[in-house]
Amino acid sequence: MIDFSQLPVPVVQAPMAGGVSRPALVQAVAEAGGLGFLAGGYLRAEALRDQIDAVRGRVDGPFGVNLFVPEPPRTEVDLRAYRQRLQPVAERYGVTVPEPNWADDDFFGEKVEMLLEERIPAVSFTFGMPEPKVIEAFRAGGSTVIVTVTTAEEARAAVNAGADALCVQGPEAGGHRSTHRMTDEPGRTSLVELLRDIRVGIPVIAAGGMTTGADIAAALAAGATAVQLGTAFLRSDESGAKQPHKDALADPRFTDTAVTRAFTGRPARALRTTFVESFDDAAPAVYPQLHQLTAPIRAAAAAAGEADNLALWAGTGYRHVRTGPAADIVEELWRQAVRLR
Ligand SMILES: Cc1cc2nc3c(=O)[nH]c(=O)nc-3n(C[C@H](O)[C@H](O)[C@H](O)COP(=O)(O)O)c2cc1C
Repeated sequence: MIDFSQLPVPVVQAPMAGGVSRPALVQAVAEAGGLGFLAGGYLRAEALRDQIDAVRGRVDGPFGVNLFVPEPPRTEVDLRAYRQRLQPVAERYGVTVPEPNWADDDFFGEKVEMLLEERIPAVSFTFGMPEPKVIEAFRAGGSTVIVTVTTAEEARAAVNAGADALCVQGPEAGGHRSTHRMTDEPGRTSLVELLRDIRVGIPVIAAGGMTTGADIAAALAAGATAVQLGTAFLRSDESGAKQPHKDALADPRFTDTAVTRAFTGRPARALRTTFVESFDDAAPAVYPQLHQLTAPIRAAAAAAGEADNLALWAGTGYRHVRTGPAADIVEELWRQAVRLR
């Protein structure tokens, strides 16, 4: 089991699906003394295995892989009204809004099998908990199992299911909230308060809104063993975030973030754009089918370099995010944090 308190730098680079946390980023963070994570979400097992091979060729020490835990599809919800709402934007880009695919479980089973074979040092789960027998199989194979939680209740359930460690995600976090049910409204208790509430006897990695040394120092002071940063790395040289996303994080036109289901059906924090303003109120809690419906629009917007129709995932600390090598970001944040501890 990985002892997170023994990492040279207790900074975990968040798994970021959609091509952001690519092997080069995992390598850079590992070389700076932190722990990097690959994101398995949206990938088939073989594509994820290729990334694992690439990391193994570059990193000697531990690294992690993250998976989305699927839920039974909400086939009872009618998506026709939302499809119609999206139609004018799709037409503008000359793309079609697809029919929902209710069989999409993100290839969870094939990825679990592959990761068990690969004996990954750390495996983390988001959007829910795998069955206890899956957790047990990973532990038996030597993987450290981390379950992402957003409430004290989810934390207790993860401990009971046999998790080695928790990733406690606060409401400040960029990207998807890891509520264990897609229909749950995400909590608003701040990360630091959550850390104080969740005392379950296993190590806690804190996530959400941390982009300064002071944020990191506060999370560690509140009981976290390590911190997990996503947004802080989005503009780094090694990040695979799309250029319009990187640019938007520093664009004074975007003055706020919002938690919205508009892009995927699950609550997620993004820069407040015209897309968020236009579709937030109409978006049903149906994941990943809303992700499928909006994907062609987002792809076309990315190709056109139009940030307003992209999912510009961002935590509340996005204003402090800098460019440059990820190793420099780790080093600078940790130096600031140490000074404040
Ligand atoms: C672009 C982006 C993609 C993300 N993708 C994932 C993911 O695939 N799996 C996951 O567990 N968390 C994902 N997250 C959430 C992070 O794990 C973490 O909770 C979050 O980044 C912490 O907040 P911060 O972004 O303010 O640092 C993502 C976050 C961002 C910003």
